Amino acid sequence: MRRKIVAGNWKMNKTYSEAISLADDFFQLAAKDPSDSVLTIIAPPFPFLREISKCLEGQPGIFVAAQNCHHENSGAFTGEVSASMIRSADASHVIIGHSERRQYFAETGEQLLKKVNRALENELTVIFCIGETSEQRNSDIHFSVIRQQLEEVVFHLGEEILSAGKIILAYEPVWAIGTGVNASAAQAQEMHAFIREQLRGKFSAATVNEKVSILYGGSCNTGNAAELFAQPDVDGGLIGGASLKAADFAAIRRIMIGQAGL
Ligand code: PGA
Repeated sequence: MRRKIVAGNWKMNKTYSEAISLADDFFQLAAKDPSDSVLTIIAPPFPFLREISKCLEGQPGIFVAAQNCHHENSGAFTGEVSASMIRSADASHVIIGHSERRQYFAETGEQLLKKVNRALENELTVIFCIGETSEQRNSDIHFSVIRQQLEEVVFHLGEEILSAGKIILAYEPVWAIGTGVNASAAQAQEMHAFIREQLRGKFSAATVNEKVSILYGGSCNTGNAAELFAQPDVDGGLIGGASLKAADFAAIRRIMIGQAGL
C-alpha cells in the first residue's frame, strides 16, 4: 500500500511568532484526528525548523520538512543551508526541485540531482517536485517535459532508495501553483499515471506501485481536495496557500484520512 501524504509548503511566509502559532493551531486540530494511515508533513522556513520540530513531540505521524537545501554539507556558501544542518535541526524531509526554485533560482536538473543525493546521504526523505509550464502544456510537450525531469534526477537513483520510500514525488503543474486554477482531477490522474508508467520502465513494478507516493500540488484546497485525492494514482497533496490556514490544512488532512480509511 502506498503511503497517503498531506504536505504543507509554507514558502517564504510568516514571522517567528506567526509560524509558531500556525503550527500550534494546526497540531491542536490534527490531534483531534489522529491517523496512522496518513503521513502529514509541514515545511516551514529554515529559521523555524528546530522550534517546530520540538513542538512535534507527542504528535505521531507528523513530520517537518525544509523547502530546499544546498548540495554541499558545509563550506563557503554564504546564505545557504545544508542537508546536514536541516537534519541536525530534527527535520526529516526536504522539498527539492520546487518550480519556484527552478524558475527564480535557475536550479538545473544537474544541481537538483546533487541536492537529492546529499539529502539522502543525510537521511532526509526527499519530496521531489516536477511540473510543466502553461506554454509547455499548450505546445503539447508536457509529457516529454515530465519525462525529462524524471530522467535528470529520479532515474539516477538506486531501486533501494525508492523501495525504502525515501523519494516522494510531487506533480505540480506550474500554471496551477498559486493561481487558483487547479489541474482537473482527470488531468492530475492522467499525469500521475504517466509518471508511474515511466518509473515502471526503470524500476520494478512492485516498488513503483507500492512504495512511490505521488502528490498533486497546485491550488489544492478544501473544495477540490476530495476529488483530486480520489484519483487512483494521486496519493495526496503538496499544499501551498491553503496550508497557511490551520483550519484549511487540517480540513484537507481530514479529507485524506477519510479516503485512506476507505
Ligand atoms: P499552492 O502551492 O497550493 O499555493 O498553489 C503549491 C506549491 O507550490 O507547493
